[in-house]
Amino acid sequence: MIPIAKPLIGDEEKQAVLEVLDSGILSQGPRVQAFEEAFAEMCGVRYAIATSSGTTALHIALLAHGIGPGDEVITSPFTFIASANCALYVGARPVFVDIDPRTFNLDPAQIEAAITPRTKAIIPVHLYGLPCDMDPIMEIAQKYGLAVIEDACQAHGAKYKGRHVGSFGTGVFSFYPTKNITSGEGGMITTNDPEIAEKCRIIRQHGARQRYYHDELGFNFRMTDIHAAIGLAQLLKLEQFNQIRQAHARYLTEHLRGVVTPYVPPDRTHVFHQYTVRVPSGKRDALRAFLQERGIGSEVYYPLPIHQQRLYRELGYDGRFPEAERAAQEVLSLPVHPALTPSDLEAIVAAVNEFAEREGLI
Ligand SMILES: Cc1ncc(COP(=O)(O)O)c(C=O)c1O
Repeated sequence: MIPIAKPLIGDEEKQAVLEVLDSGILSQGPRVQAFEEAFAEMCGVRYAIATSSGTTALHIALLAHGIGPGDEVITSPFTFIASANCALYVGARPVFVDIDPRTFNLDPAQIEAAITPRTKAIIPVHLYGLPCDMDPIMEIAQKYGLAVIEDACQAHGAKYKGRHVGSFGTGVFSFYPTKNITSGEGGMITTNDPEIAEKCRIIRQHGARQRYYHDELGFNFRMTDIHAAIGLAQLLKLEQFNQIRQAHARYLTEHLRGVVTPYVPPDRTHVFHQYTVRVPSGKRDALRAFLQERGIGSEVYYPLPIHQQRLYRELGYDGRFPEAERAAQEVLSLPVHPALTPSDLEAIVAAVNEFAEREGLI
């Protein structure tokens, strides 16, 4: 079976974990600090704050920006649920804006119409590893005085006009095992703002500036040194991993037929967390089943847009976001991870093209 995702763990990660176990410092300690410093440098930002997951990083980021009950937060309906749920965690309301059908990312041209006096932030999601169109998003945020919290959970190392995602507003990353680099579980917040960085650290640590003196409500959203040791070893390989993903994506785009391959605007560096095609004519699920028979893993990210999830229906969401809904019917992600071999790539292309020919898609 060719899996849709596979973490690449080498001797460096194993050795780093053993060193932590031997050190006796198992919770947040010097490895977390080293991981934060290295990640901030990679992103080109002044501060990075490690957390227990991408979800807790989003939660902290919203709290650090003072977002709470009565506030509205604009985001995409076509993303992982955490991009919107973080607003619910703090008592705010996610407001959805439809996606650009070519990039699958928030359509900046539709954002202004969704802004109300309650809007406090925009959460652009760099879906599949492709940066959002950040210039118009930052312009709108500035015009209306909104915070920008970039959900870069799928986009480690991606760039917009040569600048790293996570450095435009407050950035949020995930190190879940399917991501471009992993720490097992884990997350990171990036920022150039010293006040936001300080708030994030305090919220992560039960609202304490000084041990056992709690100034505000906080959480235990810390990363452990064991996870940080894995993350740090992986971070050294990020560029190489991303280059392999990009080479695999190039091969797939050159050879696949009958499906719509990913669009990469010329001003963006896509890091291909996912290689996602559109399958026309209602044949997506049939292609997925066909690939499964051939031993090729694939996945639908995401089969149901957030506004149509039961949780959101029960919260009263009844809007229509036609491009998000169409994407949910048509997208299929194919393996693109760095563990693929040339024969894996050939097998993926042969299977997709055979299906496309059989079904008259070519
Ligand atoms: C776009 C997006 N946002 C948020 C998250 C949440 O990250 P985590 O799973 O580390 O909590 C993920 C990943 O799972 C994601 O893909």
